[in-house]
Amino acid sequence: MSEQILVFDTTLRDGEQSPGASMNLREKMEVARQLVRLKVDAIEAGFPIASPGDFEAVQAIANEIRGPIIVGLARCMEKDIVAAAEALKKAERSRIHVFLATSKIHMEYKLKKAEAEILRQAVEGVKLAKKYVKDVEFSPEDASRSDPEFLVKVVEAVIDAGASTVNIPDTVGYSTPEEFGKLIAYLNKTVSNINQAVISVHCHNDLGLGVANSISAILNGARQLECTINGIGERAGNASLEEIVMILKTRDDLYKSFTTGIDSRQIMKTSRLVSNLTGIVVQPNKAIVGENAFAHEAGIHQDGVLKKQSTYEIMRPEDVGVQESKLVLGKHSGRHAFRDRLEHLGFDLDADEVNRAFDRFKVLADKKKTIYDEDLVALIEEDLSTIPAVFEMEYINICTGDKTVPTATVRLKRDGKILEDAATGDGPVDASYKAIDRITKLSGKLKDYSLKAVTGGKDALGEVVVKVALNNRLVVGKGTSTDILVASANAYLNAINRYLFLEERRDGIPGL
Ligand code: KIV
Ligand code: ZN
Repeated sequence: MSEQILVFDTTLRDGEQSPGASMNLREKMEVARQLVRLKVDAIEAGFPIASPGDFEAVQAIANEIRGPIIVGLARCMEKDIVAAAEALKKAERSRIHVFLATSKIHMEYKLKKAEAEILRQAVEGVKLAKKYVKDVEFSPEDASRSDPEFLVKVVEAVIDAGASTVNIPDTVGYSTPEEFGKLIAYLNKTVSNINQAVISVHCHNDLGLGVANSISAILNGARQLECTINGIGERAGNASLEEIVMILKTRDDLYKSFTTGIDSRQIMKTSRLVSNLTGIVVQPNKAIVGENAFAHEAGIHQDGVLKKQSTYEIMRPEDVGVQESKLVLGKHSGRHAFRDRLEHLGFDLDADEVNRAFDRFKVLADKKKTIYDEDLVALIEEDLSTIPAVFEMEYINICTGDKTVPTATVRLKRDGKILEDAATGDGPVDASYKAIDRITKLSGKLKDYSLKAVTGGKDALGEVVVKVALNNRLVVGKGTSTDILVASANAYLNAINRYLFLEERRDGIPGL
């Protein structure tokens, strides 16, 4: 039988303390509603005394949200506690979270108070909060840098005063998993009345150990974890909710005695919402919720995933609300993923067609970071509409500028023979078309020219479609390239090849 670890979400309080992350009331309500869907046990909705906006948000969340405990933060000060109590008045389940620093450095420099006074103020704070709500949590701020013996005294005293949760914060993210685990084990063993309270932890991420410290704390007796969506929070942030939840779920072999009530399928949706509302972008390689967390680019990995997903995936994407893993097509991708993607896009190609398209894809992938589906469609359509090429483009060089006569040098191949010529023109496209005319001994009249970006971004693939009149025949040509001048020349040459093909078959569209 596994024990449930309580998930205390502080995205709306500590998370909102991330520089630039402020949310308005409507946005906070949206996050709170999503946290209900995620099934967190407690929502720390804000610090009511901090600002009228914070008060209003805690009050609105307390008035509407049902299910999780709604928590308001307060210093061990009367005005803070009264404000928190007032904001939480209509909550279905309310908790006041009082905190006071217990480390020497905080007591001496920040609070300028001695241990005895801190002890008294902590007890008074809890007692006062207890007059308003049944559920009181106490945090000895900077606990991990506090004298452990003094910490025991404070924790014991606040439990006696009525705190039902004692939260041990690693406020500055200084602790390590081994050390923090030992501290929790020590408190669990030494605090005489610890069985009357839940041990909670609140780990910051300054050394990147927030999640590891939280897991270590569970193994040593903590039963509530304070965390945030996407790990946002003061400075380097807090332990990330999604990482903690998925560690417990994925490594069930190690942590089978622990579970959470979280509906993990809501994780991605919650992450996106918080990111959009706070403007804090999730790094692509962020565990669980990063854009690349379920994306594979290397050919060997893609091949493995297509054969058996668990070769390179330790979690099922759907378990965190991601529809499916992504095989990103790029220069490291292999033929297997390429063919799979084409099938997804509805192309039914024979082996030769796939091989030809794959070679062209590799050339494109060297020039373009991301290959979108639209790029593939353009690539395949161009290939499928390929008619036997009488002339093949070998090389093109165009010189242009506002003080230069546009000049193009073109090298084509016909029946294995290299033919080269150069021409000037009104513009770079005109120059390249004239050079092609000189080599092919044809003289096309450009009737229509259109250029569009097949995909977005600075490195987008440009697609040029031309209509060319050649000896009373109107032919269409298409070319794509990341360079629009090359795409233009390819389109014109494609039109010429089509003309020669149609002439030979005599089934073209007669007349203009
Ligand atoms: O980091 C911290 O110590 C806090 C407390 C208020 C719990 O955020
Ligand atoms: Zn904090």
